[in-house]
Amino acid sequence: MSNPLPRNVPTHVAIIMDGNGRWANLRGLPRTMGHRKGVEAVREAVRTAGEVGIRYLTLFAFSSENWRRPEAEVSDLMGLLKAFIRRDLADLHHQNVRIRVIGDRANLRGDILPLLLEAEDTTRGNTGITLVIAFNYGSRDEMTRAMQSLALDVAQGRLSAEQITPERIAGRLDTAGIPDPDLVLRTSGEERLSNFLLWQAAYSELLFVPELWPDFNRDVFLTALKTYAGRERRFGGLVPQTLAVGS
Ligand code: IPE
Ligand code: IPE
Ligand code: MG
Repeated sequence: MSNPLPRNVPTHVAIIMDGNGRWANLRGLPRTMGHRKGVEAVREAVRTAGEVGIRYLTLFAFSSENWRRPEAEVSDLMGLLKAFIRRDLADLHHQNVRIRVIGDRANLRGDILPLLLEAEDTTRGNTGITLVIAFNYGSRDEMTRAMQSLALDVAQGRLSAEQITPERIAGRLDTAGIPDPDLVLRTSGEERLSNFLLWQAAYSELLFVPELWPDFNRDVFLTALKTYAGRERRFGGLVPQTLAVGS
């Protein structure tokens, strides 16, 4: 084992799981094989996160913009999510994992919504790691729905405009009650957020690693956590030792 368990473990890690298609292309396989292999990487990531003491792991599974992909690929991704919940829910429950789903739930097709609700309901009382599945999720969509709900409260006299605070806005987001991510990690070398947690990532450390998602294993995760541990977070203030010298 090349990596010791990390120190300074982030409370919340959010991952943009990218590169499934490229992983398959490199092997002359259809994109769907990359997505399939990606599910195995999800299992390993949840296990590793639990092992090192991460409290919240958010995984970007399907974006509100991913509907732009060919119908066959969209169906394939939906099928994989359903199969994952059907196959893994009992095991996740057994591991004391709590599941939460973020993203727009309106207009989801077929049996996907009941399955997501079942996953949340079954694991509601669990006290281990919270696995946040971002599905049909887009930050701008999430913020728009939050603004609409606040606007309705103002229009109907339950809230005044001045009472709209950052805390109230955060409380209307799908992530209400979940601490902001300490680390946002993206695989496959792409360096963008693609509409992921734009509000919540205001002070997150960003880390872009070259590995394609299907190749993301325990060792890559631990190396990323080591990089995070070396980062200096300031939140607009000064680091403690600078304060000591300056005062
Ligand atoms: C990530 O891999 C999975 C989803 C976006 C659902 P991609 O499918 O985006 O793979 P690339 O980026 O085309 O390699
Ligand atoms: C972001 O990846 C969405 C998910 C990982 C689910 P994309 O592959 O969809 O992002 P872009 O299109 O390259 O920005
Ligand atoms: Mg991609």
